[in-house]
This record gives sequence, structure tokens and C-alpha cells, in this order.
Amino acid sequence: MTSLDLATSLLRSRAGLKAEPASQARLKRLLQESATLAGIPVDAYVSIVDTQPAAFDDLLDRVTVQHSSFFRDPAQFIALDGLVRGANHLEHVLWSAGCGNGQEPYSLAMALDEAGRDDWHVVATDVSFRALARTEKAHYSESEVHGLSSERRRRYLTASRDGYDVNPSIRRKVRIAHHNLAIDDASSIVPRPAVVFCRNVLMYFGREESMACIQRIASVMDPGGHLFLGHSDSPGPMNRYFAEVRVAGAHCYQRLSAAPVASVVGKPAAGMRPPRDLPGLMTEGDRAAASGDIRTAVRAFRQATYLDPNVAIAYFQLGAALELAGDAREARRAFGAAGLAMVNGDGTEDDSGLGGYTRRDLASAIAYKLTGGQH
Ligand SMILES: C[S@@+](CC[C@H](N)C(=O)[O-])C[C@H]1O[C@@H](n2cnc3c(N)ncnc32)[C@H](O)[C@@H]1O
Repeated sequence: MTSLDLATSLLRSRAGLKAEPASQARLKRLLQESATLAGIPVDAYVSIVDTQPAAFDDLLDRVTVQHSSFFRDPAQFIALDGLVRGANHLEHVLWSAGCGNGQEPYSLAMALDEAGRDDWHVVATDVSFRALARTEKAHYSESEVHGLSSERRRRYLTASRDGYDVNPSIRRKVRIAHHNLAIDDASSIVPRPAVVFCRNVLMYFGREESMACIQRIASVMDPGGHLFLGHSDSPGPMNRYFAEVRVAGAHCYQRLSAAPVASVVGKPAAGMRPPRDLPGLMTEGDRAAASGDIRTAVRAFRQATYLDPNVAIAYFQLGAALELAGDAREARRAFGAAGLAMVNGDGTEDDSGLGGYTRRDLASAIAYKLTGGQH
């Protein structure tokens, strides 16, 4: 097997991505570039990609297309508005699956705000950590806010540096998490979403992976929920789980009540992907911080918060690393999230999950950071 074949098969088995002539040529170039940068032969680089999760994630970041835009396909947002306004007043989740650089989940949050519904929130997921970091940053250039009317810009953005920041009131409605649509069960990350936007993701998947992904999405949805795909997505047969419907003129799929779906669908063979786990990321972050590699520390702690958004120590360490990196604003945000994770914790987290802190000590350390030492 050539190194190009191996990389192609890793991308397919671990992320669902199919090989096409154009993407193959690009992949070949990327492999060559990365190997040259690392100063090693291409086959040595690909075997590192195979065995080291960070190297695979890095390649995935470069291979996937994260481009998006605000209110992409406006007809779907008009349909969403009708669905949201007509829904009962219980808590509802809207899932942006394959959220790209974040314009999609923030558009969804703006749409919820416009519909006057505080009882909905958005969960934004992606397989690419770079896409999640961009989403988290919520900062866009002039050309990236192209799809937003001047009224929406005025209401939801603040001009900053060379572009715009999404306002905290909208950011607060969006929870960000890592999720691989080709492999991972979503039930713990997005339990029972009422509406799913999974647009312009399946177009990159192989047919089998695409069908398994649809099955996986169906498995977390209640009957009656709606799924929106992109125009270029070709999901294969949907009628086992969904009925094709039109909502306010927009084409989408409604979850049927028949055909329950097994909760774990089409997991690839065991051992296909080396695990990217929380303790591993925390250790990587601690080591990097100790050796002064603050960039790596920030990346590792941030990835840890995406893998499990409920672990206070991961946010706390992220905040500390960001402080060292001189980003006081983002550090404060991370300490705030650490506080929130402490409050939301069910109290069962034992001290081993707190990086050597007791719950009380960690709570005081967070309060100290948030009050600038006035605590
Ligand atoms: C073109 S963007 C779409 C963004 C947004 N949904 C939209 O339509 O504007 C495609 C996104 O799908 C993500 N993606 C690709 N494979 C994925 C997978 N296996 N699981 C989750 N996300 C994936 C990519 O990282 C990328 O951010």
C-alpha cells in the first residue's frame, strides 16, 4: 500500500471522508508539504498520522473544508423560524452537526433570538478541532459576515480589531463539543435534538458512511423532529427513518415514529483510531505548559474541554495557559466556564478528576481568578 493509499484509508475509516480525484491530488500535496515541514519522508509522516492522534487531527484539520457563511440558504432559516415559534415551551436542542467555522450555529442562535425563544439552545459539533476553535473564537472578518444584514450586524456583532465579534448573548446560546459523525454515538452530547442542521458534510462522505451517519442522527431524534441537509448532500435512501417534507417551502426530513434505531450504529472495527482521551490531553497540556510550550498547552486543554464540556479543571488549566499566552480576555472566559462546570457538576466528581485540587480549593482558585485576586 502506498502512503497515499494508507492516508486515504485512514481518512475514510476514521472520519468517513471519501476519496475523489480532486481530493486525492490535494491530499498528496498536503502529505508532501507536511513531510517536508517535518523533515521526514512521506511514508514516515503517514505512519505517524496512523499512530499519533494529534498528527491525525492535524491532517484532518487541513483536509476538511470548514468554510461556511451566516444564514447560508435563507429558506431553511425561514422554515426553522416557523418550527421554533410553533414548538411547545419545554427545553429544546438545535444541533449544528459539522458546524464548520461557526457561522451556522451562530446564525441558528440569532434565529432563536429573533423568534423570542430562550428555551432553545444550540449544540455545535465538528470533527475538526480547528473548526471548533474558530467557532469558540466567534471572530469574523468583513468578508465572513457577508450573509448578515446591517440590522443583524448592529444587533448581534461588535466591531473589533480587523472584523467583528459575535456578542456574548448569542455565544451563550451555543455549546461547542467535539463529535465525529462517522463514528461517534451522539446521545451523550446532543440528547434528543428537536432540529438538526447537518449541511454540506455528507457531500464529503462515502455512501456507506453517509447512510450510517443518517442512521446515527436518526437514533438521537424523537419522532416529529426535523433534519435539514445541504443541497449538495446525497444521503442515499432516507425513508426508513425520515419522511421528506416541506416546511414553509423548504425541503427537509421529518423523523418517523416507526423504525427505532440501535443506539450504536456502524462503529468501525475496534482499534481503528487511537483514542483521543481526556486524561491524555490533560497530561499533554500539563507537560507542554511545564516546558514553556504555551501554544501546545492551550491547544491540548482546549481540546479537552471539547471532548467533555463538564470538566472544570480543563477550563481552569486552559484559562491559566491563556493567561500565560497573554490573552486575558479569553482566559477570563475560560475561568468563567470553569466556574459554570463546577456549579453544573453533580457533586460526584472525585478529587482525581480535579487535577490534584479538592472541589473547594478549585472553586476558590476559580473565584480568585475571576475577581482578580479580590476574593
Ligand atoms: C463545508 S463545512 C459545513 C459547515 C456548515 N454546516 C455549513 O453548511 O455552512 C463541512 C464541515 O464538516 C466537518 N466534517 C467533516 N467530516 C466530519 C465528520 N466525520 N464528523 C463531523 N464533522 C465533519 C468539517 O470539519 C467541516 O467543518
